[in-house]
Amino acid sequence: MRRVRLFDKTFKTFIPYEDIEKAIDKVAEKINADFSGCQDIPVLLCVLNGSILFTAELMKRLTFDCEIVSTKLSSYSGTASTGKVRQVMGLTADITGRRVIIVEDIVDSGNTIVELRKILADKGAAESYVCTMLLKPDACRKDISLDYVAMEIPNDFIVGFGLDYNEIGRNLKDIYVLDQEDGQ
Ligand code: IMP
Ligand code: MG
Repeated sequence: MRRVRLFDKTFKTFIPYEDIEKAIDKVAEKINADFSGCQDIPVLLCVLNGSILFTAELMKRLTFDCEIVSTKLSSYSGTASTGKVRQVMGLTADITGRRVIIVEDIVDSGNTIVELRKILADKGAAESYVCTMLLKPDACRKDISLDYVAMEIPNDFIVGFGLDYNEIGRNLKDIYVLDQEDGQ
């Protein structure tokens, strides 16, 4: 087991890169099965910053023509959700009439997805789907439908592979979980 120190906290290895890759392979296969042969050009909506690595890994596995659009939302402070979702950067392109696949790093409370779906409906998307790399069980309490989930994890705070602790740790190749023994 490897440990990393980020600011005042210690994290330990949780999901190795090889397992992340395999999970992305599987979820990409499902999306390809659903979208291959489509006549439109679906949009992959990369939700910055967290899903930047996931979007890149997912996109290179997709076999149909698709376009990338980004937006930036923020709801986390430290290791917990503030409960308020702010759109800090709007959509980088017009998605009117388009089918949009929201690509998220993780769905926790589900607030971000609820907000995103509202934004997309407002902007006139034809259809929206959700593809998330990770799902925490708490999200299940909300009435949100997730179309593609690569991995489910317990309700612990994690970093790496795009996910951060106060903006650092996104560059870690594996996913790490907060080390409880650290006592902080
Ligand atoms: P939700 O709105 O509560 O579903 O939270 C979604 C957002 O919170 C994600 O897109 C992440 O950016 C962030 N987030 C949720 N859980 C974690 C975590 O364990 N580590 C880092 N960021 C997280
Ligand atoms: Mg995110």
